[in-house]
Amino acid sequence: MSRFPSSDDLTAHLAQSSTPYHDPVGRVRWDRLRVDQYWLPPEALSLHGLPEFMQLPELQRIRLSQYEFLNFLEAGLWLEGMFMERIARSLAHRSPDRVALRYRLHELREEAGHSLMFLELMERSGLYIPAHCRRSVPLAHLFGRYAPLESLAFWLAVLIGEEIPDRLNRYIRRHGQAVCPVVVDMSTAHMIDEARHINYARQLIDERLKDVRPWRSVGVRTVIQRLLRQFVSVFYYPAAPVYELAGLGPGRRWLAAARKNAHHLAFIESCVGPTLQLLRERGFDVRWRK
Ligand SMILES: [Fe+2]
Ligand SMILES: [Fe+2]
Repeated sequence: MSRFPSSDDLTAHLAQSSTPYHDPVGRVRWDRLRVDQYWLPPEALSLHGLPEFMQLPELQRIRLSQYEFLNFLEAGLWLEGMFMERIARSLAHRSPDRVALRYRLHELREEAGHSLMFLELMERSGLYIPAHCRRSVPLAHLFGRYAPLESLAFWLAVLIGEEIPDRLNRYIRRHGQAVCPVVVDMSTAHMIDEARHINYARQLIDERLKDVRPWRSVGVRTVIQRLLRQFVSVFYYPAAPVYELAGLGPGRRWLAAARKNAHHLAFIESCVGPTLQLLRERGFDVRWRK
């Protein structure tokens, strides 16, 4: 028998688990911040394994790890901003029942806490990615803003948007020995809250799958396939100018090398695999590569 007999019970349980609230900014031991240490495990870097990159001085590779982590945080700020906007709109325009309202307010507060934690790192380190150096993700942006909040496709997109960064956070936590401890603290704080958010999205997806028509699920698959590729691209590959911020020019050449880097492709495959499996178990056979 299921541990949670109804979806309301699970939602109430998840909201309860968010109490007491622990501010993510307060969970991080900021005095351990270092700018001469890796911010991502070396194996997670987009250029790891390429001879021309591995021959560079270690400080140069460390600097790229910092900018790739900042790229990851920038993508997170954009994505969390979109979640918060949708949650806030749902509170203003609909009247969810009290169980759902309570859960959504917790999620709103937690996402705001994550984004504040990202900004805190930028503030304290003095490192950030200027707006003109960030990637744009037009389909994900449009979909995130306008897809119906209660639809299956919307919650699948939320699941992918939560899962893709969460898998990288898990990797950082597991392979954090050589990584600045502040980054490991950040990934840990984020993972704890995301486990609830992912659980909630899965619950809503499973409810909606009960009465989805086969022809509709084909259309949904097409959309989430494209969204998945955009999310992977934005989280795992910085835009070309980011390489230049890290002192690697010309950025376009390094980005082209990263896209062909077999080590990085295998790394992404291992991170994304469990998410694809989750989707396959629900009837959506999607791939992150063409
Ligand atoms: Fe978050
Ligand atoms: Fe989340």
